[in-house]
Amino acid sequence: MGKRILAVVSSPRKGGNSETLVRQFIKGAEESGNVTDTVILREKKIAPCIACEACLSNGGTCVQKDDMAEVIEKMVAADVIVLSTPVYYYSISAQLKVMIDRMLAGGSRMKGKEFYFIATAADGKGAMETTMKDMEGFAACVPGSVVKGKVYGSAFCVGEIKGKAAMDEAYQLGKGC
Ligand SMILES: Cc1cc2nc3c(=O)[nH]c(=O)nc-3n(C[C@H](O)[C@H](O)[C@H](O)COP(=O)(O)O)c2cc1C
Repeated sequence: MGKRILAVVSSPRKGGNSETLVRQFIKGAEESGNVTDTVILREKKIAPCIACEACLSNGGTCVQKDDMAEVIEKMVAADVIVLSTPVYYYSISAQLKVMIDRMLAGGSRMKGKEFYFIATAADGKGAMETTMKDMEGFAACVPGSVVKGKVYGSAFCVGEIKGKAAMDEAYQLGKGC
């Protein structure tokens, strides 16, 4: 039976390089019979965590009522989570950071996920390591999880990733997941 795969697109740029790599991953994953879903964070209304920690003592319900509740349910239900981000000042995008922090409310239900990370940056692989570490930090907080693959996409302008090796790398990772 196929796995449930959730991809998170966190670039504010429509059709950007990291989103293009996610689509490649999803193409491969669907060809292998998996069930996929993609969350586009720029289309969601998600406020930053206010650190009230109410969710830690009320069974995991966030006091903020926005689109994060549906994202948490998708994250909890997924077998495989693909996080993608552009590199912004050697870090993940603000959109991805906000989503990760708000996962505090779903944290107690998050277990045993397979993670894949996709990053894109103008300055090559070396510029993506701290960003990969940001995403690894989230995975490390999900008990029993494993990071199964990473895609490093070197590109600056929208569309520049097309034709590069990362396109096939993302496709093959999706195919094999
Ligand atoms: C605010 C901002 C900060 C950026 N910081 C970096 C950086 O630190 N290192 C780098 O190599 N590229 C940096 N870039 C370039 C992007 O990472 C690059 O254009 C990437 O392909 C964007 O991915 P996307 O098309 O998925 O949005 C930055 C771009 C922006 C808009």
